[in-house]
Amino acid sequence: ADNGYKLWLEYHKVSNRQLAGVYRQQLQYMVFPASSNPLKAAKAEFLMGLDGMLSVKPTEVTNIVSGQTIVVGTPKSLNALPISFPDSIGNEGYLIKTIFINKKQCTLITANTDVGVLYGVFNFLKLIQTNQTISKLSVADHPRLMYRVLDHWDNLNRTVERGYAGSSIWNWHKLPDIVDQRYIDYARANASVGINGAVVNNVNADALVLSPQYLLKVQALANVFRTYGIRIYLSIKFSSPVELGGLKTADPLEPEVKKWWAGKADEIYNYIPDFGGFLVKANSEGQPGPQSYGRTHADGANMLADALAPHHGIVMWRAFVYDNKVPDDRFKQAYNEFKPFDGKFKDNVIVQVKNGPIDFQPREPFHPLFGAMPNTPLMMEFQLTQEYLGFSTHLVYEAPLFAECLQADSYRYGKGSTVSRVIKGDFNKKLITGMAGVANIGADLNWCGHPFAQANWYAFGRMAWNPDQSPAEIAADWLGMTFTNDESFVSPVKKIMLQSRENTVNYMTPLGLHHIMGVSTHYGPGPWVDNAGRPDWNATYYHRADSAGIGFDRTAAGSNALSQYAPEVKADWGNMKSCPDEYLLWFHHLSWGYKMRSGRTLWDELVWRYYTGAESVKQMGLTWNKLQGKIDPERFAEVKQLMQLQFKEAVTWRDACVLYFQSFSRMPIAAGSPKPE
Ligand code: GCU
Repeated sequence: ADNGYKLWLEYHKVSNRQLAGVYRQQLQYMVFPASSNPLKAAKAEFLMGLDGMLSVKPTEVTNIVSGQTIVVGTPKSLNALPISFPDSIGNEGYLIKTIFINKKQCTLITANTDVGVLYGVFNFLKLIQTNQTISKLSVADHPRLMYRVLDHWDNLNRTVERGYAGSSIWNWHKLPDIVDQRYIDYARANASVGINGAVVNNVNADALVLSPQYLLKVQALANVFRTYGIRIYLSIKFSSPVELGGLKTADPLEPEVKKWWAGKADEIYNYIPDFGGFLVKANSEGQPGPQSYGRTHADGANMLADALAPHHGIVMWRAFVYDNKVPDDRFKQAYNEFKPFDGKFKDNVIVQVKNGPIDFQPREPFHPLFGAMPNTPLMMEFQLTQEYLGFSTHLVYEAPLFAECLQADSYRYGKGSTVSRVIKGDFNKKLITGMAGVANIGADLNWCGHPFAQANWYAFGRMAWNPDQSPAEIAADWLGMTFTNDESFVSPVKKIMLQSRENTVNYMTPLGLHHIMGVSTHYGPGPWVDNAGRPDWNATYYHRADSAGIGFDRTAAGSNALSQYAPEVKADWGNMKSCPDEYLLWFHHLSWGYKMRSGRTLWDELVWRYYTGAESVKQMGLTWNKLQGKIDPERFAEVKQLMQLQFKEAVTWRDACVLYFQSFSRMPIAAGSPKPE
């Protein structure tokens, strides 16, 4: 076995012989003229997939053999055939249809553009990969978001910030001369789920990336990506005009600074005509930004936007901002800094907002900016790399986390104004739209460290394409494509995946606890951390446990962060009786004896969650062990060991947190809690 290198593009043999026979019958011939790079890539993928799954190579023909032919291309590439279809699928959508052309039945994969055809081919292959029938097809699909981007936090020295899957896949040292096959496989995987952008360097950016030497390297990557419909983007350091350009200032309102950026943009587009644009982390965690010169986020973003606009590039300006001076609650800073600038950003700026207000915790309420900036495009930022979710040793399927945020109701435009609808631009059609995922990819043989972490890359792509897709369906597809379609494997493992994130919340941060992990590494428990260098890095700042109780009061009596939400949300979460258990300690400081919905006291409930969380990891391991023989022994054994390790660490989390909090509650561990080992 390849130990997972091929990701969900394994293309393993269709094991059901009868089904394989039907597929072969329908795929004996193909009309697939391919002259452009994306069409050539689509064709190569198509042939590789069919060879792997069915050991067939359709015979190339120009005339359809009824019932046995697949026709692939755009109306332009298929100009010999009379093909028409609705415009509604746009530039990236596709159709897969069983139809009659010239009175002959065939399967048609078509799109307005070559890249649309590539997406169509991947989705057709997926039908076979997941053993669906291809006899009476009528699929029309298109992406709901425009910019579907992976953010790599990769440094130029190949370390990866918060990366747990080895060093960076970008070999800057050997680029541009050596173009690793990995870049191509990376692009294929992205295209297979519709990801159309990659920011290749860390948001804590090195100015050097904009030097001519590096732009040549970036160009080599862009040349690979282009074939697969992927545009390249760079994170930029706001002070680059000083560091790279030798200017005295990077003040965005200084004419020489504007000129420098405009010139740099021209230079970049000389190398890369379809360059996507810039991602910017400014005035956050020590990074320079417009505020360093007394200017605003809008001043900074708009200056860069002007430089990119002539080339149709965009600025993704991050709203992840906080600093030392924030007095009472870090939760509130992004909203306070950005809300006043609603409508003040240029058309090619999109403000990139993390899913929650603090920082990718196992569970966060949705970020209050979603819905609060009706005249500003907001791009969702999820984190695929498991910074706060056990790195690449814990199995955590993140799609339920994504869905929870996306389906949350902001109430900003009345009931049903979900975060998903906000980012899709439902409430303001003029806005550009997008979703970013902080990549979990590295040079490990299996790309993501944990075999199941691949599912998070996959699910991100699927949900960036359509934010309303169901985590369960995505998991089933991924399992079928990655491992096997054997129901006796897929069904229990899908259950494991769907439960995994909740388990992790339970053994790490139940009931709305947050930011209680080990300092700086962000691995393992650290609820006792109270000397991290600044108050809002301390765990004690967030849980506020004392002999009376636990939790962060964000109601009007406390920091009043809840006032950043719509009145309906504020009322719901602000009342401890209606606030869901999941968010309780995010918003309330409650006594240890507080009566929970379950009838238990808060203390007993907390203990219960920690114990059931750890216990469920043990159960997951037992379920997995029964599946031996159903997949390749390598990945089976690797996951088995990982689950044992995860259990050990879940127990550490449980014991550390329960014992630490017990030093405040002074209450016993109730009889009836699952037993410790
Ligand atoms: C987190 C993470 C940092 C990262 C930052 C960001 O704080 O720990 O490593 O730079 O997020 O998103 O900018």
